Amino acid sequence: MADKILAGEKKVKRHGFSVRVVHWTVAVSTFLLIFSGIGQLPVYRRYMLDRLPGLAWTSDFSVTLAIHYWAAVLLILAVTYHLVYHGLRRDRGILPRRGDVRQSVRIIMAMLGQGEEPENDKYLAEQRLAYAFIGFSLLLLIVTGLVKVLKNLPGVDLGADIIFWVTALHNAAMVLLMLGIAAHLAAFLFKENRYLLPGMFTGKVDLDYVRRRHQLWYRRLAQKGR
Ligand code: HEM
Ligand code: HEM
Repeated sequence: MADKILAGEKKVKRHGFSVRVVHWTVAVSTFLLIFSGIGQLPVYRRYMLDRLPGLAWTSDFSVTLAIHYWAAVLLILAVTYHLVYHGLRRDRGILPRRGDVRQSVRIIMAMLGQGEEPENDKYLAEQRLAYAFIGFSLLLLIVTGLVKVLKNLPGVDLGADIIFWVTALHNAAMVLLMLGIAAHLAAFLFKENRYLLPGMFTGKVDLDYVRRRHQLWYRRLAQKGR
């Protein structure tokens, strides 16, 4: 694990380069997939987005489908790399644990000024839940998306029932994912969570913040440093 205390800089190394590349590849490909997927529904002609200067392509099915396919390739590459990399290294820090729902309620209440926050590990309980929720939605989108690719191949006929259910699941998973992303971004409305933002850009977060809030992680890092 690359995590370590950088005492001279008063920072803690939280995320390595590859974690940051995976995060931003998933974020960019997801936004492209949502935008191009909604374009296929097709919504942009109805709401006249395609009449705005430079946006005529948004209602062209062949363009939105090509964007959808290329962004899907990016997403699948990033997700596969993420699973293999952390699987081989047996990194389990971000997976949900027993009692995470109760702990998340305590963390949110504490941020609203009610009660004390529990001692946190590298990830807060609510982040472990967010990871599982977003991860599940993405995997469901990938599996149902691959079946839809199969359906588009010449000579493949999956039957109307299967196509109906796969499309319904693909769309439902998109709604779940959008809720997950909204909650993920809303978390940064709380000042206390904003200390995590630099970590996804530079890999480092403030040492005092880690000492104050991620006590379990801090103690492990301090022990490792000795
Ligand atoms: C502008 C958009 C985004 C920003 C500013 C952002 C920021 C961040 C930051 C700072 C972290 C690290 C928190 C930590 O160090 O513990 C993080 C983690 C994460 N991000 Fe994002 N993110 C964005 C978009 C997305 C999108 C689109 C997805 C998914 C499709 C996503 C999925 C995740 C997941 C699963 C984690 C790990 C769990 C968690 O911390 O909730 N992010 N993000
Ligand atoms: C963030 C991830 C994704 C989102 C939000 C998303 C969203 C959508 C939406 C809204 C549609 C249009 C409605 C429909 O036909 O179901 C669609 C269609 C489709 N998606 Fe996705 N999708 C995602 C990922 C994927 C992936 C990973 C693949 C491929 C592996 C994929 C393949 C397809 C295909 C083939 C279609 C149908 C195009 C057609 O009408 O022939 N999608 N997607």
